[in-house]
Amino acid sequence: MPIADHYGRKINYLRLSITDRCNMRCIYCMPTAGAEKIAQRDILSYEDFMRIARAAVSLGIEKIRVTGGEPLERRGVVDFLARLAGLKGLQQLVLTTNGVKLAAMAQALKDAGVQRLNISLDSLRPETFRQLTRRDLLSEVLAGIDAVERIGLPYKINMVVMRGYNDREIADFAALTATHDCTVRFIEYMPILKHADWRALLVPTAEILERLQQEYVLELLERNVTSGPAREFAITGARGRIGVIDPLSGHFCDTCNRIRITAAGKVRTCLFAEREEDLRPYLQPGAEGELARRLRQLIDTKPAGHVADFSAGRPCAFTMARIGG
Ligand code: 5AD
Ligand code: SF4
Repeated sequence: MPIADHYGRKINYLRLSITDRCNMRCIYCMPTAGAEKIAQRDILSYEDFMRIARAAVSLGIEKIRVTGGEPLERRGVVDFLARLAGLKGLQQLVLTTNGVKLAAMAQALKDAGVQRLNISLDSLRPETFRQLTRRDLLSEVLAGIDAVERIGLPYKINMVVMRGYNDREIADFAALTATHDCTVRFIEYMPILKHADWRALLVPTAEILERLQQEYVLELLERNVTSGPAREFAITGARGRIGVIDPLSGHFCDTCNRIRITAAGKVRTCLFAEREEDLRPYLQPGAEGELARRLRQLIDTKPAGHVADFSAGRPCAFTMARIGG
């Protein structure tokens, strides 16, 4: 049975960021100068992540997502995923990836027991893709999506919408759902890095939906267990689904079911939390009981909700490469 937090929310979903390293440099995620990296010696071993995962599952966590940085950049990730998949009591193992290494790894991920992928893809045009990711790797990602489609591993595509960059592709991304049995999710850009012109870059979810409705007739779908914070729709007759996520509005805080662990072993009870709590003191062999108790305590400190105030000009307490979205 999942445990409930202080506000009665069932916490059944754990996100593990296993590395902050990445083979891309998305402009909304990494500063131009490069992000400050977690020191190699501070990155948890797979053994430590297994300890945390076991403690979490003993507390009723049913779903684990492995993220990064780019998780497929970390050596040994497939074996680690297979170990996670073997945890008794875990019902869902999913992975977030930028897709660059997927073509070669899709089958191994499926064999390891990964049940679903979130693939980040922000443009279908090579030039725009390069602008947004600072890398020329679109064809690799598309080959990865083909591979996943071929072997029948369920997946979602996450597109972060930025005005002037990729917003003219909203309809193209939606059109993917006509031919692909996947969910395409449009994510409101979060100005974490405080681009001077962030207000101009932001395309509100309402506008994304309006633009979609100019092109297509959308049916609102019932929420299901895989919806997460997205509201989901389908174009009539399409194979796939469309989702929209507005991380800034905070309207989904009251059903938030997740906690996050960074690659350095810090717990974040909310994406926008001001504080991170270090789990490393609880990771020695034999401290399993203490670790589970500490996690339980931290779940109890999960805030009721967030107000993402980007206007105040304060630097953000996190970067996505550290938390994994
Ligand atoms: N705004 C919105 N989404 C973001 N992500 C990372 N940075 C941002 C941001 N600034 C999401 C992207 C990416 C996932 C890892 O995290 O969807 O696919
Ligand atoms: Fe890498 Fe994902 Fe950040 Fe892009 S958004 S730089 S793919 S971690």
